[in-house]
Amino acid sequence: MSISRSSLLLALAASCAHGFVIPKSVHQARQIADVSDLLPAYDYVFVGGGTSALTVADRVTEDPDVTVLVLEDGPFADPAAYLPVAGGGPVLGGGSPSQPLIELTSAPQAGLGGQTYPIVLGNMVGGSSGVNSMMNLRGSAEDYDRWGQLFEKDELGWNWEGILPYFKKALNFSPPPKEVAERFNITWDASYWGSESGVHAAWPTFQYPGIDPLVAAFDEMPGVERVVDSGAGGAGVYWFPTLMDPVKHERSFALNAHYENLDRPNYHIMAQATVRRLILEDTTAKAVEFQTNSSTELFTVEASKEIIMAAGAIHTPKILQVSGIGPKGVLEAAGIETIVDLPGVGQNFQDHVGIVTNITFAGLLDIHPNGLDIVNNATFREWAKESWETDRSGPYSLAIENVAAWLPLTAFAPSLFESVATELETQNHASLLPAETHPTVVAGYAAQMQGLAAAVRSKDTVFARFKINGTYGPTNPILNQPFSRGSVNIDPTDPFGKPPIVDYRTLSNPVELKVLVEMVKWVRRYSFETSLKDLGPVDAAPGPDVVSDEEIAEYLVLGGGIYPSDYHPAGTTAMMPLELGGVVDQTLRVYGVKNLRVIDTGIMPNLPGANTCQPTYGMAEKAADIIKSNV
Ligand SMILES: Cc1cc2nc3c(=O)[nH]c(=O)nc-3n(C[C@H](O)[C@H](O)[C@H](O)COP(=O)(O)OP(=O)(O)OC[C@H]3O[C@@H](n4cnc5c(N)ncnc54)[C@H](O)[C@@H]3O)c2cc1C
Ligand SMILES: *[C@@H]1O[C@H](CO)[C@@H](O)[C@H](O)[C@H]1NC(C)=O
Ligand SMILES: *[C@@H]1O[C@H](CO)[C@@H](O)[C@H](O)[C@H]1NC(C)=O
Ligand SMILES: *[C@@H]1O[C@H](CO)[C@@H](O)[C@H](O)[C@H]1NC(C)=O
Ligand SMILES: *[C@@H]1O[C@H](CO)[C@@H](O)[C@H](O)[C@H]1NC(C)=O
Ligand SMILES: *[C@@H]1O[C@H](CO)[C@@H](O)[C@H](O)[C@H]1NC(C)=O
Repeated sequence: MSISRSSLLLALAASCAHGFVIPKSVHQARQIADVSDLLPAYDYVFVGGGTSALTVADRVTEDPDVTVLVLEDGPFADPAAYLPVAGGGPVLGGGSPSQPLIELTSAPQAGLGGQTYPIVLGNMVGGSSGVNSMMNLRGSAEDYDRWGQLFEKDELGWNWEGILPYFKKALNFSPPPKEVAERFNITWDASYWGSESGVHAAWPTFQYPGIDPLVAAFDEMPGVERVVDSGAGGAGVYWFPTLMDPVKHERSFALNAHYENLDRPNYHIMAQATVRRLILEDTTAKAVEFQTNSSTELFTVEASKEIIMAAGAIHTPKILQVSGIGPKGVLEAAGIETIVDLPGVGQNFQDHVGIVTNITFAGLLDIHPNGLDIVNNATFREWAKESWETDRSGPYSLAIENVAAWLPLTAFAPSLFESVATELETQNHASLLPAETHPTVVAGYAAQMQGLAAAVRSKDTVFARFKINGTYGPTNPILNQPFSRGSVNIDPTDPFGKPPIVDYRTLSNPVELKVLVEMVKWVRRYSFETSLKDLGPVDAAPGPDVVSDEEIAEYLVLGGGIYPSDYHPAGTTAMMPLELGGVVDQTLRVYGVKNLRVIDTGIMPNLPGANTCQPTYGMAEKAADIIKSNV
């Protein structure tokens, strides 16, 4: 069965890897529907065809002599499932015709009463950039400087200065429409943006006026500053564009910006092709073993230069571990032979933590039009539809809000931040990780917490996002710098067949809960102690009976007040020194393995204070230059 087919392809690959002439018919096939249409070998084989993979594949195939194959588990999805932007797109807004995502279940969370939580991931060509809600942020300059500081030398410039040119390369910025900008005082600074990329950053032609008092109230809060542009690397209140086309007001993302718009015979994608494992020869990555959607047969394709892992922060560590690259103990327990004992693979797992607050304002519903009018007022709805049909303007060009407060700890926890910093510096970091954690992984955690301690004292690092909704007021805040670290490890009962065990370990660092409590208290001060008090705030959650810090903490832990994910899994193949439990070096090569790199959110040593799509594009553009320059 499978073996003979695989070895035949490998044998072919071995003889063809150098100086192979591509037949003309293959030139024309960019979407590979059948294994028989594959070249026996490609220069680069990408595992996963998501946000980062397609960005890098685009840049690498600019050279017509370089051949690339992208193997993607998900399909070429129905455009109706990803193009519309209203409400954050069909996936999160509900009603997608063919949900191009997969939902896993987390391990029970010890810190949250043993609850499990869903893990939602894009599963299509284009990856999570095809299902996300198109919020477009890059975070604090200091977030990226902390990446570079983890290394003794940062020669490739994994810091703010070094990544800023790639943010400019990654996105094509359009300024907001004049009338909307004037009406809502939207500020921006185009010098932080570029104009070359196929990925667009653009603005709706409409905002609900209910945001006026909400934005004004931000300015009344102590320590809250205005930042002129979301791309400036600051912390405070800022406006940010949407990941959409400026004219069509449709989703702009990895598929339509880094593949469909190109006519490159050297750039192949095979959809519905699931990578099972990597094949190594000694410690050199040679080939990828995969399955298609039509049989259980296993196929193999060789990479003559490199294999590039881009299956995302949940699946990349799984594939590395089943391939024998990972922590020896985890691999042994699952009966996988260790080829490279690399303790960091699957560790250092992070996501942004959400908390549930609900303060309603009757006064906001007196401001028209609002989000209910589009449901209840036929005149307004007709106008909205007509505007969309005429020139794609109006409320249906609005994904979700384009303004929020991205605050430093100094602003939302003025009386707590110094003690948080001291605790991060002095706590026993090993005791906050599982007992069997490798000492290098512990050292990396300690180094990250030391770095965060400095960030805690800075007014320029974003620690929490306070988003607003013109109809409903402040929405669930997000902790942008988690303090706990979890893991993504193969399931020993069926390492290949079952999804990995995803353990957030939310609240395992006690600092985390203290900071989340302060976020609840800030939302209350913002709602009840500013001019917003005139709009009739009512505390529906946590509720007026939940007053003391202890009561708020209990609500968060046991009252369903915490959500461990904001859909931003990261950190599981971290770019850090090997002595700090790192998995890839600054060229993104996996330690101890030849011809193998990783480029997805897994390489982030720590999350930026931003939703992760734009950071992924920026990293991928930088990675592409590193790969092409052959350093
Ligand atoms: C629902 C949702 C909403 C989000 N909202 C926002 C937002 O508004 N703004 C923002 O900035 N960020 C948002 N994000 C996060 C952001 O989109 C992601 O962080 C980013 O796209 C991740 O890029 P990536 O390249 O690391 O992985 P992905 O883009 O997820 O790509 C990984 C790809 O690998 C494929 N794959 C996995 N396993 C295999 C295998 N074995 N074989 C072959 N292929 C495989 C997957 O199917 C997937 O297509 C959201 C994410 C989600 C899921
Ligand atoms: C816009 O700025 C002007 C001048 O600072 C101010 O008077 C006005 O209230 C602001 N409008 C909004 C909606 O913030
Ligand atoms: C299998 O995947 C290929 C490539 O994406 C696609 O053309 C085909 O329709 C799929 N078949 C099924 C049964 O899903
Ligand atoms: C309905 O919407 C229209 C257009 O925005 C507005 O003029 C009208 O006052 C609204 N009617 C009600 C009852 O709110
Ligand atoms: C505000 O939230 C409501 C409910 O989730 C939603 O219908 C509406 O579209 C939101 N407003 C904006 C501007 O996104
Ligand atoms: C917020 O509270 C109000 C009033 O109790 C309720 O009607 C609404 O559904 C709540 N919203 C959310 C998102 O839970």
